Amino acid sequence: MPVKILMVCLGNICRSPLAEGILASKLPKKNFIVDSAGTGSWHIGHAPDKRSIAVAKKNGLIISNQRGRQFSTDDFDFFDYIYVMDNSNYDTVIELAKNQQQKDKVKMILDELFPNENVDVPDPYFGLANGFNMVYEMLDEACEIISAKLIAKHQ
Ligand code: 4NP
Repeated sequence: MPVKILMVCLGNICRSPLAEGILASKLPKKNFIVDSAGTGSWHIGHAPDKRSIAVAKKNGLIISNQRGRQFSTDDFDFFDYIYVMDNSNYDTVIELAKNQQQKDKVKMILDELFPNENVDVPDPYFGLANGFNMVYEMLDEACEIISAKLIAKHQ
């Protein structure tokens, strides 16, 4: 059975598509499934933001084939690990959890770099152009740690 990991942000067009692409590139396809979703519904069916597509491409990753979808309570059953990008996403997802087992699947992604500090991946949507580079670097560092842990635990 593959191990399943879900990346969650607000729109599912800026941060979580990058997190999905980066983590998927660091894990063997045969044993792991990586997906992403947004807590909001504005971008269902949309491709990632052009700026996320561009920063991914600059780093050798193609994410333009991804399509936005909204987080669903069924995701708690399907996925083994749910990484959220910020405190607001965390609160939204935890609120939807039915029990402690589901809550235990949810983690702040930057806790991998800064344990228990609850640091947000800043939303670059309305921000500066360089925000996408910064977000890419943060997610790349976090996903490097996540992939090493997952491979050690599940292979
Ligand atoms: P994301 O960024 O959560 O990183 O995908 C956003 C994208 C779009 C919106 C909000 C955040 N929006 O309000 O449309």
